[in-house]
Amino acid sequence: MPSDPSRRRWLKGALGWVLALPVAGATLALLRRTRSLQQPGVFPIPADVPLGLSVVGEVIVNRGNAGLQAWQARCTHLGCRLDRIEGQEIVCPCHGSRFRADGSVVTGPATEPLAPLDLEADEQTGGWVARVR
Ligand code: FES
Repeated sequence: MPSDPSRRRWLKGALGWVLALPVAGATLALLRRTRSLQQPGVFPIPADVPLGLSVVGEVIVNRGNAGLQAWQARCTHLGCRLDRIEGQEIVCPCHGSRFRADGSVVTGPATEPLAPLDLEADEQTGGWVARVR
């Protein structure tokens, strides 16, 4: 059976488009997700964050059996980054303020509680996304 070169060319082109559309769609979805996570005030929290208090990048996370709470990892005294957990307390490295696992102040000089973040499930990773209120 003789083949028609123009028909073969058309079929190759159509097959190329059919294969390219899912790849393009997945790429766009990935770019959209990456862009949304790079917005200021948006922080990804992995699914395997441990129970109890932990520091996850710019976020303090308290994971309990009942769920998750998150605060900005910024001291409310002068804004130092909080990066240390001692027992059940979050400790500021600059002037020693301490915060409880619910974000409230144990000892100053800070007088205001940590700034809470809103949380939503991230279905793509199984973790969460924390956002500034
Ligand atoms: Fe944290 Fe001063 S900035 S105690």
